[in-house]
Amino acid sequence: MTDTILVTGATGNLGRSVVQALRTTGFRVKAASRHPETVPLAEHVEAVRMDYTDPSTVAPALANVKGVFLIAPPMDPEAPAKLKPIIEKAKTLGVEHIVFTSALGADQSEQSPLRIVERALIASGVNYTILRPNFFMENFSAGFVSPMIKSQGSIFLAAGEGKTSFISTQDIAEVAATAFAKKLFGKEYNLTGPDALDHTEVARIISRAIGKKITYQPLSEEAMLQGARQMGMPEGAVQYMRVLYAAVRAGYTAAVTSDVETVTGRKPMTFDAFARKNAAAWA
Ligand SMILES: NC(=O)c1ccc[n+]([C@@H]2O[C@H](COP(=O)([O-])OP(=O)(O)OC[C@H]3O[C@@H](n4cnc5c(N)ncnc54)[C@H](OP(=O)(O)O)[C@@H]3O)[C@@H](O)[C@H]2O)c1
Repeated sequence: MTDTILVTGATGNLGRSVVQALRTTGFRVKAASRHPETVPLAEHVEAVRMDYTDPSTVAPALANVKGVFLIAPPMDPEAPAKLKPIIEKAKTLGVEHIVFTSALGADQSEQSPLRIVERALIASGVNYTILRPNFFMENFSAGFVSPMIKSQGSIFLAAGEGKTSFISTQDIAEVAATAFAKKLFGKEYNLTGPDALDHTEVARIISRAIGKKITYQPLSEEAMLQGARQMGMPEGAVQYMRVLYAAVRAGYTAAVTSDVETVTGRKPMTFDAFARKNAAAWA
């Protein structure tokens, strides 16, 4: 198989896993970033510059690709305005398939930015697959929660006692690569890990994996959002975060689905296995 897939967000937690899974499956990859010099060199991977806010970068990135793995900038209320032109340009250039990463529950509100992108993709006429993953396990090892664990030994979030069926980006990536390889057109998958865990349980699992006590310190919503503002998060993203963690506290992120196994033929990774595999990340 020598088809080329454009991976957007290729430097991010999910994108890196998707590049790897596509290579393993036998695809060539164009790995897109606003800073292509930061894309790790690898066989069958070509780094390309693509910035959703710079239209001059879009057509060159989309040229000569069979498929596009599309992500939205994280927690960005402006995602529809940024991604609709990409979908339209992909259609014009004859891209066969777009696999779009939305988020679990996005289809519960027609006004949510990711749902608006889903609708635009479905209406575009380009073959599509929609992935709706739950919160990533990698948020704790390489994403925004990781610095709290490393520097303060605690997870500070307004997650209450809500449970979440966290999923590894490796499982999402394997679903994405399978969607391209098997041309899973017109399909929508709600992707979760195998267990719903609250953040006290997550802290306990990480503690066990690294041999050091990590705790969960529940915050009030206002304290969490104030902390995010102090870290320089734009107000649109702060409000997005408010909605996300209200959903966690309300139990909306606890559902466990079998969609990973349906697509890949194997069960998704447990948090325990993830924490043991990534223990070095918290050293
Ligand atoms: N994290 C979660 O728990 C979770 C759960 C469900 C869904 N999702 C969704 O999954 C996707 C990936 O999340 P992630 O955690 O992997 O994100 P991440 O690690 O923060 O990476 C974000 C990526 O977006 C790219 N990006 C940002 N602004 C861009 C722009 N203007 N133009 C082009 N690229 C831009 C960045 O590339 P450069 O900086 O290299 O340009 C980076 O590769 C996001 O859409 C997120 O909403 C995340």
